[in-house]
Amino acid sequence: MSGNTSRDSEGWRELNRASWDERVGIHLKAPGYDLAPLRAGRGQLNAVEEAELGSVDGLRVLHLQCHFGADTLALAQRGASVVGLDFSPAAITAANALARELGLADRARFVCADLYDAPQAIAEPAAFDLVYVSWGATCWLPDIRRWAEIVAQFLKPGGRLYYADAHPTAYIFDDFAPEPDGRPGWFSPYLERQPLKYTDPNDYADPTARLENATNVGWLHPLSDIVTGLIDAGLSLDWLHEHASLPWRMFKVLEKRDDGDWHWPDRPWLPLAVSLKATRRR
Ligand SMILES: C[S@@+](CC[C@H](N)C(=O)[O-])C[C@H]1O[C@@H](n2cnc3c(N)ncnc32)[C@H](O)[C@@H]1O
Repeated sequence: MSGNTSRDSEGWRELNRASWDERVGIHLKAPGYDLAPLRAGRGQLNAVEEAELGSVDGLRVLHLQCHFGADTLALAQRGASVVGLDFSPAAITAANALARELGLADRARFVCADLYDAPQAIAEPAAFDLVYVSWGATCWLPDIRRWAEIVAQFLKPGGRLYYADAHPTAYIFDDFAPEPDGRPGWFSPYLERQPLKYTDPNDYADPTARLENATNVGWLHPLSDIVTGLIDAGLSLDWLHEHASLPWRMFKVLEKRDDGDWHWPDRPWLPLAVSLKATRRR
């Protein structure tokens, strides 16, 4: 992260949407998004989900913040019937084009709407076996309790949430002020629950890209807020895992390994990702 930062969230939705719209064109060609397996009919998820998700064959899946639909379509290739939602018109246009190209348009529907408008935009309460949320999703949302309520609302009783994302404790560190050994230095408090507006023209999936829409607003939601929000919304936690790797180069010191994820160069120093499964109580 670089440039000016502030604690105001003014214009968060427009700023973030402009940035995500711009990233779609970059990501469709980016090394961080290899679409070859998807085009060959064998779309890959990242190492963590591949190990944990299990079969989705025959399930109705809602993929929240689906970006341009690569993971959504990989789930459709595995036999799921999927709905993807994202607030970026560019992402949804690309997702629909990809679905048509791959012959998956009958199994994959994409909806352009803000996460908080999802109940009106999809209007299928309690219709899904699985809500799927992954990688770089909840940090863009101001209200984590409302997010959890929306997740619960879409699940059938007994349906489950699968969630894999950056670990909130990793967001308190940043490469802006590295330690002498290259590890990231201190950046942002964990428990403040304040927005962070920052400007960073770099993109996580293409190191050569420079964004014109480089100002974003994000939120660090403590792990306890995520888990308690889900429990209060009517879900039971089945398990929660912490991981010392994640699918993008969050810090320069991380190294890419054969599993495709980025790891600490030596000892696992700090959790980089968290995943959980939670089931809607009946
Ligand atoms: C990091 S991407 C998710 C990436 C996805 N896991 C993948 O690897 O393809 C975050 C997505 O969240 C979407 N997003 C951010 N804020 C949103 C909001 N308020 N409502 C709906 N979508 C939002 C962005 O448009 C973007 O596509």
